[in-house]
Amino acid sequence: MSYFESVKSLKIKENPLIMGIETSCDETAVAIIRNGREILSDEIISSATEHAKFGGVVPEIASRAHTDAILTATENALKNAGLKLSDIDAFAVTEGAGLLGALLVGVSFAKALAFSENKSLVPVSHIRGHIAASYLADKTLEPPFITILASGGHTAIIEVKDYYTHRVLGSTIDDAVGEAFDKVARVLGLPYPGGPNVERLSKNGKNVVPLPKMLSHYDGGEYDFSYSGLKTAVINYVHNKTEKGEEIVKEDIAKSFTCAAIDVLVEKAFKALKETGYKTLTVSGGVGANAYLRESLTDRAKKEGVRLILPEKRYCTDNGAMIGAEGYLQYRRGNFADLNLNAKAVIPL
Ligand code: KG4
Ligand code: ZN
Repeated sequence: MSYFESVKSLKIKENPLIMGIETSCDETAVAIIRNGREILSDEIISSATEHAKFGGVVPEIASRAHTDAILTATENALKNAGLKLSDIDAFAVTEGAGLLGALLVGVSFAKALAFSENKSLVPVSHIRGHIAASYLADKTLEPPFITILASGGHTAIIEVKDYYTHRVLGSTIDDAVGEAFDKVARVLGLPYPGGPNVERLSKNGKNVVPLPKMLSHYDGGEYDFSYSGLKTAVINYVHNKTEKGEEIVKEDIAKSFTCAAIDVLVEKAFKALKETGYKTLTVSGGVGANAYLRESLTDRAKKEGVRLILPEKRYCTDNGAMIGAEGYLQYRRGNFADLNLNAKAVIPL
């Protein structure tokens, strides 16, 4: 019997132990999740500092770092959960989107584990993984809800109708919001990763730099975003001031950019809540860690009587637990891969 035939005949368990493996970018992350909601262990080994001197993630360095770290991350995840490899019911792995070479490390590793243990191999979309982090943040959360997906690669307002049906109400027509944070960080001379550094600087800044109000003159989809113009406006502002020998207040630029980038996300998310009649909002993705976004959402949710789910910052940025949580949902409906599973650089939202 082939591997696939033999795992297909395994019974799908009610309360499975799922290992979530994530290697799409610069975090090698392995977690063990019980019953889709409970984190038993959660290991993250980041190669961010190795990329810092290049100002962004270097794919080849990321792939090599995953190769170095994946066994340690897996062994630690098992040890900290007090489990053996044979206790795991399914191996869930990010199949995309992300850096191809980096993804291949996780996919190959997960295949080897699934094959050797004769357990299911569950392919997981990184984007759906980010959304599933909310199920770990609040064990009682059930769809429907609206989520703000805001990461380094994606920006969208998504209607989560049920565990498996997601509708994209709108998304960015150019750059992602996290990408804009990273580029603005660069022009301000801040190291990679940009988002947390812009946030640090913005804490002492004022929202006084004139920047374009996003989409005020864009007549595309009402839930769409455009971050390229905002990013260019910041770059032009810095260059013009510098050329004229005028002083720039980096803290104010960071604050003004943050407000312009975030306010529109908040605005559109609450518009989506109003239109759908949903009463629950969550955030998904690295920019969800941003303090200004979290404060703005908290204030607004309180005023409008909306239930807000904010995953801890660690579960907004890339992690294995979210892959385990989404892996659980895919496991329950028997979405298993064969050993010819391949990594995908791009995956539809
Ligand atoms: O979700 P994530 O870890 O990886 C992707 O799937 O892209 O998101 C990474 C992005 C980066 O662009 C990073 O600068 C941004 O999230 N980010 C932040 C913060 N922490 C991470 N942006 C703003 N404020 C933060 N505190
Ligand atoms: Zn991510």
